[in-house]
This record gives sequence, C-alpha cells and structure tokens, in this order.
Amino acid sequence: MATIRLGDKAPDFTADSSMGTINLYDYLGDGWGILFSHPADFTPVCTTELGTAANFKDEFDKRNVKMMALSVDGAASHAEWIKDINEVQNTTVNFPIIADEDKKVSNLYDMIHPNADNNLTVRSVFIIAPDKTVKLILTYPASTGRNFYELLRVIDSLQLTAYHKVATPANWKQGDKVVVSPSISTEDAKGIFTKGVEEVKPYLRMTPDPTA
Ligand code: BEZ
Repeated sequence: MATIRLGDKAPDFTADSSMGTINLYDYLGDGWGILFSHPADFTPVCTTELGTAANFKDEFDKRNVKMMALSVDGAASHAEWIKDINEVQNTTVNFPIIADEDKKVSNLYDMIHPNADNNLTVRSVFIIAPDKTVKLILTYPASTGRNFYELLRVIDSLQLTAYHKVATPANWKQGDKVVVSPSISTEDAKGIFTKGVEEVKPYLRMTPDPTA
C-alpha cells in the first residue's frame, strides 16, 4: 500500500458494487470523480451521509462529478442497507457503493486506520480530476459525518482554479471575489481580469469571480 498524495494518479481498480462490477476509470470517463468511504453498512452516521449524498446528486451532476461510495461489506448487504437509506432519508441512492469485503480498494487508497479499527474504513474523501490526478484528500474519523456543502464548495474552487489563474480565499463560495494567482504580476492581472483588480497588498490582489 503506497501513500496517495495530491497530484498522484488515482489508482485504478475493478470491484463489485451495489450496481455490479465497476471499473473506476471507465466509470469516471473524462469527468471529475468523488470517492468516499464509509466504515460499514447499517451504521447510523453513514446512513445519513449516503442519503444526503443521494439528495445532492443533481449538484454533483451539474459539476460533471461522478459519485462513488465504498463500504467494507458485500453487495447483498449494500442492497439491504440501500432500502433503509432510501426509506429513512426519503431518497433513492443513485450511485454505486463499492462492496469492498476483501478491503482491496480500502487498502489501495489507505482508508483503513489501524490505530482506530483494523476492520473499518475511516471517512475518506478523494476528489479526482478528469486527468485522473487526485485533487483533494480528506480524512474524517468514523464518528464525524461529512459536510456535503463543503465538498461541493471545494469542487467549485478546484474547477474554477483549474481554468483561471486564481485561488479562492477562506470561506469562499461561488460568486465571491477571488485571489489573483501569485504567479501573475499586478500589471498583467489588470490585463487578464477585466472586471478589475484590487491590490490590498502587493502579494494579495482580489478580483471578482471571472465566471460570475
Ligand atoms: C456510523 O456510521 O454511524 C459510525 C460508524 C462507526 C463508528 C461510529 C459511527
């Protein structure tokens, strides 16, 4: 098991899932991807997370992001659990959940935290760009459910900064002002960002969101 770092190629895999056998790269095609792990089936926090994820699918679709979850139980168990999730979260789980009984994928992505539990995965999140590089890694403990608004916010930032020479400041959300990339001089920035550049400090230049 190698450590995965930002910028590494996301390891490809083929695995069983709640939607049959699935290959990561084929599934992602040339879009973005989000892979998130759950400690185990029939666990309370995961039930809320998967229902929330399903209710957010339209937002991920809008951003061309394919969703894939993982839990270390089998596909038959996933199918039963999905019925509960759909019932209690009033939704339809509409993306695959990897059935990682042999922990092949969990180990490949270093999702097991032996200091906590050898048998369960932590709540990992990997965001994968169209070139299959890993753009974000988050690791939450099993006891803390993830914030899907934050995941969408990070995707918005990653997609904006992939195509424009900007970075996003603390608590940024779509439409807010952005930071001009430090690699651009203020003079050049004024030519590129026609909505205006405010030089707060020589190293801190703000400009309106170029896509807003
Ligand atoms: C849960 O998903 O609810 C959970 C899983 C493992 C430990 C604590 C909570």
